[in-house]
Amino acid sequence: MLKENVQEGINEQIRHELYSAYLYLSMSAHFEDQFWKGFAHWMRLQATEELKHALRLFDFVLRRGGLPTLKPIDQPPASFTSPLDIFQRALEHERTNTGAINQLFELAISEKDYPTRVEVEWFITEQVEEENTAEEIVERAKLAGDDRGALLLLDQQLGGRTSSD
Ligand SMILES: [Fe+2]
Ligand SMILES: [Fe+2]
Repeated sequence: MLKENVQEGINEQIRHELYSAYLYLSMSAHFEDQFWKGFAHWMRLQATEELKHALRLFDFVLRRGGLPTLKPIDQPPASFTSPLDIFQRALEHERTNTGAINQLFELAISEKDYPTRVEVEWFITEQVEEENTAEEIVERAKLAGDDRGALLLLDQQLGGRTSSD
């Protein structure tokens, strides 16, 4: 059985993951609108991945006999500038989310909730991956700079993403 405060912490993290999906979907819409088709595709899969994260926690709460209470999700930004700016914001967002995951991990430890601790461990590993991927894209977008050809190549490369895991 989940303790009240742990359940609350997980419900809060479900909200974070759903907001992440919202944010990336909004970024995807902007990219579609600007004909950066590859970036749009990548962001759409990223949104799908975040939705899976939310569902993973949702199912975990249910398996533990808790109730996932869905909270209001903030409106994501809808106006953006350059691809570099967008990926920098995505990276910042992932770093913030890592902080939230770490907090949940600390709560699981202090409450001696071992199953939650193991579940959140998966997310800790995942965040290393998420930050690393975003950092790489930011660095490559910096290398491209104002060179449209180089940015289009990056767009094409990210358009080849096949998995939402
Ligand atoms: Fe996530
Ligand atoms: Fe993420």
